Amino acid sequence: MTLTKAEIAERIEILQGDLTQLRVGAIVNAANNSLLGGGGVDGAIHTAAGPELLEECRLLGGCHTGEAKLTSGYRLFAPVIIHTVGPIWQGGANNEAATLARCYRSCLDLAVENDVSTLAFPAISCGVYGYPAEEAVSIALKVVVEKLNEYPQIEKVVFCAFSAEMVDLYRDEYERTFKR
Ligand code: APR
Repeated sequence: MTLTKAEIAERIEILQGDLTQLRVGAIVNAANNSLLGGGGVDGAIHTAAGPELLEECRLLGGCHTGEAKLTSGYRLFAPVIIHTVGPIWQGGANNEAATLARCYRSCLDLAVENDVSTLAFPAISCGVYGYPAEEAVSIALKVVVEKLNEYPQIEKVVFCAFSAEMVDLYRDEYERTFKR
């Protein structure tokens, strides 16, 4: 069943802010393969969720790039965290685009498997991992639109941008996708 563009568009939200403060069913962490914390949004999530998060992560045995694993949200408003590991940008000839797309697919599949109906993404790989933001945002929108068509049970996907520049990139891509 293919939904209209409007039926998809209304289930996507773009905002500027701190992912750790969002009241959604799950927030997505841009983690590393160890799942043992780091800087960026990973560091912010571990700080906000508290030390129990790391204790649970230690039991997960890491996460392959492109895949996703789920934990409790502990002290976060969000009851669930979906951890994924984005590709490190190496110039674009190392299957980075397909791997980044797989991150978004893995997170949405895992959300549906766990009855999570609202989730918020950071700009995966666009920080420390150096992915060119414009291309990354285009991949994110494309995969999320595909999955919102596939999964009517997902009510809302939030793109949480940390900077005004990133908000503009998401908004431009959103316009290109839905206003044509
Ligand atoms: N809320 C929302 N977005 C945030 C936040 C936050 N609190 N903090 C950072 N960001 C944004 C960054 O500005 C960037 O646009 O998240 C995006 C992803 O950047 P990173 O957190 O650096 O993640 P990534 O590029 O995927 O690199 C992952 O960084 O933190 C380490 O352990 C992590 O090794 C892993 C690597």
